[in-house]
Amino acid sequence: MASPVQTPIDLGLLAERPIALCGFMGVGKSTVGMRLARRFERPFVDLDQLVIERLGRSIPELFNRGDENLFRSTEIVIVNELLDEQLPYVISLGGGTYDNADTRKMLRGRAFVVHLDQSWEALYPALNRLRENRPLLSGRTNDDIKSLYERRRESYLLADLTVSMPRSGVVQATRAVISAISAHVNPIGIN
Ligand code: S3P
Repeated sequence: MASPVQTPIDLGLLAERPIALCGFMGVGKSTVGMRLARRFERPFVDLDQLVIERLGRSIPELFNRGDENLFRSTEIVIVNELLDEQLPYVISLGGGTYDNADTRKMLRGRAFVVHLDQSWEALYPALNRLRENRPLLSGRTNDDIKSLYERRRESYLLADLTVSMPRSGVVQATRAVISAISAHVNPIGIN
């Protein structure tokens, strides 16, 4: 069955600006980002994937061989390159990208940063299945991961917009992000 035609969303002043998604591991930056890009008719990029392609190594390989710094510096280089392209990307950042003050500064004013926020209680049951590919989760206690979550959240809250993620799945999560962005660019609801 053909999918229903959706009306374009007017993003006003954000029309030219990349939208970058930040938030903790497992919150859905990539899945929501992909859907958001489709809905906003924008190109989508996943920063983790770009770093993996650039360095030719997986994230566990990099971290486990002591190359986290190389991973982090490559993230910054690629974010800068993406911003220089001046394309209206939807960028799914890595969980640590927005924790870096230099990267936050670089993004400020050049991208619209949306924080996908989820409470620890809602998030942590989903983290187990991520352990294998997330070196920062493997071999750590829940208490360690919770402290990382709390520290990181302070940085994420510096984003241009924070959206509470519903617990109910990716469709609802994407909807919540779309309505929060739409309300932000068009606060009085005029179309
Ligand atoms: C990281 C999060 C991961 C990935 C890497 C480090 C972090 O991205 O960049 O494992 O420091 O929080 P996701 O948030 O996309 O899992």
